[in-house]
Amino acid sequence: MANATRKPGLRPANPAFSSGPCAKRPGWTLAALEPALLGRSHRAKDPKARLAEVIDRSKAVLGMPADWRLGIVPASDTGAVEMALWSMLGARGVDILAWESFSKEWATDVVKQLKLKDARVLEAPYGRLPDLAQVAADRDVVFVWNGTTSGVRLPNADFISTGREGLAICDATSAAFAMDLSWDKLDVVTWSWQKVLGGEAGHGMLALSPRAVARLESHTPAWPMPKIFRMTKGGKLIEGIFKGETINTPSMLCVEDAIDGLRWAESVGGLKGLIARSEANLAAIARWVATKPGYDFLAEDAATRSCTSICLTITAPWFTVMGADAQAAAAKKIASLLEKEGVALDAGAYRDAPAGLRIWGGATVETSDIEALLPWLDWALAVVESEVVVA
Ligand SMILES: Cc1ncc(COP(=O)(O)O)c(C=O)c1O
Repeated sequence: MANATRKPGLRPANPAFSSGPCAKRPGWTLAALEPALLGRSHRAKDPKARLAEVIDRSKAVLGMPADWRLGIVPASDTGAVEMALWSMLGARGVDILAWESFSKEWATDVVKQLKLKDARVLEAPYGRLPDLAQVAADRDVVFVWNGTTSGVRLPNADFISTGREGLAICDATSAAFAMDLSWDKLDVVTWSWQKVLGGEAGHGMLALSPRAVARLESHTPAWPMPKIFRMTKGGKLIEGIFKGETINTPSMLCVEDAIDGLRWAESVGGLKGLIARSEANLAAIARWVATKPGYDFLAEDAATRSCTSICLTITAPWFTVMGADAQAAAAKKIASLLEKEGVALDAGAYRDAPAGLRIWGGATVETSDIEALLPWLDWALAVVESEVVVA
């Protein structure tokens, strides 16, 4: 035990492993925000051009099809998803895939708030995906691409038919810029600024396929629509939203930061480079998990393991025999030891998820920092074990 609890010599240069807001890009300083057009109207020519720049660079980095629209919308990813649900659902039956906290929230929106009668919730426990074969092509489907709170991602979009009649509405906030999204299988894609590119929070991005636009222009929701959700006027899409004319006032400081993140994304090789950085982080953790006892992935199937929100369970025998409350307390203790040592901030599992750790491995995180962190996970586990055994 004396050896196991000796502190590792190396520390991550950047201990920011939170799953949102996520680490700023390497080398970021406040100076990156200096060009921000502060105190200016976002409707004026130059600030509007900056908003349009976020849209254009995002489309280019993500390889979004030319006939899609992309808008900057209020209330971060939640705003973008709820705009889509409130505006588009109700035209046909809907399937909701729910396998962790955020996807369950969207199921609650559809079933309890919108009260849609023809709604099926296809569920799975933390660590697994629901039975994707049940998704029906003649129904709408709502899902997250990456379950941020369980670290389980979709391996592909094969379960969605290219000839579908329903809309595929995808919350991709912890997947965009880190995973390949199958645009031909999707109709609505959302994300926020503060995830993979490490931007400042506040605004959401809402991407619409031509089929999604057709739904907006042909379907009138049965419920009232607040101004911040309204994307049509007189049955026609408000095109300005998708050119930088935001519905309400954005922060030009955050806009500047989003542009900085996108420029950085381009500098590391665009989407391919971003994915490679994130996959290298997952691979580093997978190598360590394979050789060290004590931790395992929460995602049971290796093909579904997230490269961004990397969720770990604790498999040490002393831990597995404890009750749920004691496990939660022990896992929290591990996270707080890591925090106290300044080697990992905010690395505890999400509040509704099984006890464990969650390490962000998105593109802004350096693999060398992940590698420096891993011996600390062994150390913290050994320290907590020694306390449990003594007690
Ligand atoms: C999958 C998913 N959906 C939605 C959200 C909520 O995002 P926001 O806080 O940007 O609205 C998060 C945040 O972590 C998420 O991971």
